[in-house]
Amino acid sequence: MKDEFVWGVATSAYQIEGGKFADGKRASIWDEFCKRKNKIQHNHKGDHACDFLYHYKNDIQLLKHLGIDNFRFSISWPRVIPFGDGFINHKGLDFYDRLVDECLKNDINPWITLYHWDLPHALELKGGWTNRDIISWFNRYTEVVAKKLGDRVKNWMVLNEPVVFTGAGYYLGVHAPGRKGESNYFPALHHTAICQAQGIKTLKELIKDSHVGTTFSCSHISPMNANSEKDIIAVNKVDALINRLFVEPLFGYGYPIHELPFLSRLEKYMLPGDNKLIKATPDFIGIQNYTREVVKHSIIQPVLKAKIVDAKSRNVESTVMNWEVYPESIYEMIKKFNSYRHISKIYVTENGAAFKDEVNSNGEINDEKRIKYLRDYIGQVLRAKEEGMKINGYFLWSLLDNFEWSEGFAPRFGIVHVNYKNQKRTIKNSGYWYSDFIKQIKLEEMEKQKQTLQEVMSVSEQDF
Ligand code: FCB
Repeated sequence: MKDEFVWGVATSAYQIEGGKFADGKRASIWDEFCKRKNKIQHNHKGDHACDFLYHYKNDIQLLKHLGIDNFRFSISWPRVIPFGDGFINHKGLDFYDRLVDECLKNDINPWITLYHWDLPHALELKGGWTNRDIISWFNRYTEVVAKKLGDRVKNWMVLNEPVVFTGAGYYLGVHAPGRKGESNYFPALHHTAICQAQGIKTLKELIKDSHVGTTFSCSHISPMNANSEKDIIAVNKVDALINRLFVEPLFGYGYPIHELPFLSRLEKYMLPGDNKLIKATPDFIGIQNYTREVVKHSIIQPVLKAKIVDAKSRNVESTVMNWEVYPESIYEMIKKFNSYRHISKIYVTENGAAFKDEVNSNGEINDEKRIKYLRDYIGQVLRAKEEGMKINGYFLWSLLDNFEWSEGFAPRFGIVHVNYKNQKRTIKNSGYWYSDFIKQIKLEEMEKQKQTLQEVMSVSEQDF
């Protein structure tokens, strides 16, 4: 299995599990954030979501039925350690134990993300990611999960998209925990970078034969006007902020201070030796790409002097998230990270699209736009693979329609439709398409291997 190209789907705990206070779980920052008026579209909340906690066996059968044998899911920290620190909730931990066994029983490889944004609320009350104590809280959580599941689970990811959860949650205040401004952002950013590296080291230390990585959001950045020098400078700044901010310190290049001088303010939160603490050697990185960004120079943004021009105002094809459909972006991102000498393996750990799904009179969901999107993006992934880049797998976001953070339940990303009233699952045509695609590509792979084997055999026969 080690070097086989893997095909899978991705999910995350808060977006699908439900069971808000089931079996001793306590609140996460998302449970709290959803209680605040008008923070989430239609004031939706993830109390029930897809009730995956109760439907996981059925959902694993869906994976099996579709022939998808790699499943990325995350652990809810407050389900396992309800107050973040302190006592372990064995009932919560047992859920993941059963989930892992259910995957293995059905020949599905589990890929676990430790942190997909649902910090225990009790820790947020102590400052959350802004408090340096998070380093020891997070490390203990990592140890607890690794010791319980590490005998069976080998594929691990430490964080999901640190740029997004620190930026949206601690600078812009549009994601949980809804904090704003530099005095929250800078310490949160630095402590996250330390935990990212520490988590990798701890998992590798505790789990034999582990395969450990961490994930990054990324987008290809184009200038609004390719002939404008100022727009090109803006591109480099936005690229440093959204594509390089956490990758480079991890691999020993430090924070991208040259393009983003304001990052020197991080020094206030750095202790001697921290430059070492933010470094680690993961076995792979996960990249998550949906779109590209187009930027232009702007004096209204005094710090960055750059502005993102959204898809709607450019009048280009886009998804319901107002994200431009731009398949080459995923190729460009693989190419970008492929060029880092220290990165040995890349997986696309998320890619997918939300479109308005129409259920037809036969109850079928013919989501042609999603199929086209997937075909084109996957085509670009395979292009990178054929060119010999270090790309090793692809995880589609997402298995199920789910709770899309501040957008609530309206955007549907699933290849399986979820009726939130009765939790009925219906495989969309994109689900069948992905299933056929995987089967076909595996067949071709087998044919190729057979052919190579035959060639090798005939050469060795001639030798005799
Ligand atoms: C990514 C998140 C994931 C999901 C997709 C659409 O940024 O990691 O949880 O919301 O976007």
